[in-house]
Amino acid sequence: MFRYVDCIDAGSVYCPCELATKGECIICSQLHGKEFCDCLNWKGTCIYQEYIWNGGKSNKTREFRKYSIINKEYLRDDILKLDIKVTKSLSRNLNNLGSFVFLKNEKDIDPYSIPISILDSDVVNNVISVVIKKQGIKSKAIFECEKEILVKGPYWNGIQGQKYLKELKNSSCLILCRGIASAPAVLAAKKIIKNNNEVYVMLDRGRSRENFAKPYFISLGCNVEDVSFLDYSGELKEQYKFEIEKLLKKWNFKTVLSAGSDEFHVKMINFIYNIDKYINFATVNNTTMCCGEGICGSCIIKGKNNEKIRACKQQYDPKEVFLRGISK
Ligand code: FES
Repeated sequence: MFRYVDCIDAGSVYCPCELATKGECIICSQLHGKEFCDCLNWKGTCIYQEYIWNGGKSNKTREFRKYSIINKEYLRDDILKLDIKVTKSLSRNLNNLGSFVFLKNEKDIDPYSIPISILDSDVVNNVISVVIKKQGIKSKAIFECEKEILVKGPYWNGIQGQKYLKELKNSSCLILCRGIASAPAVLAAKKIIKNNNEVYVMLDRGRSRENFAKPYFISLGCNVEDVSFLDYSGELKEQYKFEIEKLLKKWNFKTVLSAGSDEFHVKMINFIYNIDKYINFATVNNTTMCCGEGICGSCIIKGKNNEKIRACKQQYDPKEVFLRGISK
């Protein structure tokens, strides 16, 4: 069993969702086929009561809407930044940890829709910024958008272990970034700093001359160090093992955010856990998503005992997924 599970939509305007109507609610035991009340994480509202008051139906679901692209900038041949003018309520809802949207070119059919993390949400001008890497047919279709784009959201599960970032106050956080996964880390840094925390960012520029996220982190007031974490065999270089250990001792970080691939999470979490097993981890959510609503199953990951979790909607403790061979 996963020891920590939460639903990112619980208590929001999107709750109860379609899962409740099918007896698959993540939180409410009664909407999960049980006869007793034993909800997992109380969010201030009773999902069962909401469901009954709602006439036994789910609440509204997210839909695609057309918005204007106000700026299109190539950060590299295969990396594109889009600034999209959205409504006030969408920009506000996306100004949160782990926010992402589904994007689609208007001329394409639904299977082309692709989940993309929010780099920043400007709630004064109602503009969201996203960075997309051309990797396959879906992202290629987004590169073809010129003036308008379809956006579906808000979604919030782009970062796992959010509770560890939300509970940080008057403290400090280490962010380890590599590649395009740096985008959700920028918005995370913005929220962490708002809670009076200091943020130290080790930023790997990957194959680029400079990581696109660097100016954003600097403007937020983060301490930023350019690094190149991995050697030719993909292992964490000794110099950075030493550097991370030194930083952990000096800053006494309570939480580390890993913003890279899943392999990157495994390397970082296992290395840091061996130094200090009390540090909490948050990770950028890299699971393949299709519906984003807990229905299609494309984002399912399995725990050690084969129990399933829908990573598009469910929060887990990253240690339970990425820590290998060490009893917690
Ligand atoms: S993306 Fe469909 S269940 Fe998660």
